Amino acid sequence: MIGILLLLLLLLLLPLFLYIAAPQIRKMLSSGVCTSAVQLPGKVAVVTGANTGIGKETAKELAQRGARVYLACRDVQKGELVAREIQIVTGNQQVLVRKLDLADTKSIRAFAKDFLAEEKHLHILINNAGVMMCPYSKTADGFEMHMGVNHLGSGVTTYSVHPGTVNSELVRHSSFMKWMWWLFSFFIKTPQQGAQTSLYCALTEGLEVLSGHHFSDCRVAWVSAQARNETTARRLWDVSCDLLGIPMD
Ligand SMILES: NC(=O)c1ccc[n+]([C@@H]2O[C@H](COP(=O)([O-])OP(=O)(O)OC[C@H]3O[C@@H](n4cnc5c(N)ncnc54)[C@H](OP(=O)(O)O)[C@@H]3O)[C@@H](O)[C@H]2O)c1
Ligand SMILES: *[C@@H]1O[C@H](CO)[C@@H](O)[C@H](O)[C@H]1NC(C)=O
Repeated sequence: MIGILLLLLLLLLLPLFLYIAAPQIRKMLSSGVCTSAVQLPGKVAVVTGANTGIGKETAKELAQRGARVYLACRDVQKGELVAREIQIVTGNQQVLVRKLDLADTKSIRAFAKDFLAEEKHLHILINNAGVMMCPYSKTADGFEMHMGVNHLGSGVTTYSVHPGTVNSELVRHSSFMKWMWWLFSFFIKTPQQGAQTSLYCALTEGLEVLSGHHFSDCRVAWVSAQARNETTARRLWDVSCDLLGIPMD
């Protein structure tokens, strides 16, 4: 009898313990914090997919530091709501929304054209928007969705960043992943923690010498031999240019 009572008590206390300890556990498991104190008055930043998840937190932090931040979103209405929110939280009014659908090269070109007409400089570009495990579908240009949005749409980036395993809308297309995320939500990173590596790469002074490296948890991370292969990289570049109809150099 006492044994069963103790077991019940334990079963009740364990979730309670996890609930109370969650922030500490999450902190332990999610190393990597951007500690840069850089302020960004007069700087111009673009964050793609900034209406939710990691992109939203990244944009908020850049606005907090005084940059003029463009939220490049495929859903302008969602973007406007988040822009208002960021303006209120940071007191920075220079948070602007522009339409960008990475699944449509026409939209990408229109975005770039309008941006160039509006701004002389772009200091920080965060190619954050992306999809995962969405059902098979094609972009306006006929590319498979992941290939079209994550690779061709976002273009070739200077840094590549892995944010860690982050609680966001990314798993929206898979019930199983949603369930897994929910189950492990005590341990996986919050979007704000997930934004740290992008912020680290964008804000840390003197990091230029590491341009082209892959980062995770605010430090250079290992990539496979295939990912370091110059021949493969060149081929990917050429194939990408070819698909997009961009003349190769
Ligand atoms: N969460 C993780 O554990 C994890 C792990 C590794 C890598 N990442 C990467 O981190 C980035 C941000 O992910 P997240 O976790 O913050 O995901 P998220 O919450 O799903 O946010 C993704 C953002 O991308 C936007 N987006 C998707 N397709 C787009 C398109 N065709 N054109 C323009 N915007 C588009 C979404 O806009 P809508 O809201 O309008 O759909 C949303 O704003 C992604 O590139 C993802 O691959 C995340
Ligand atoms: C790079 O990839 C090519 C093509 O797959 C292969 O032939 C070559 O041996 C690889 N080079 C290195 C250094 O791994």
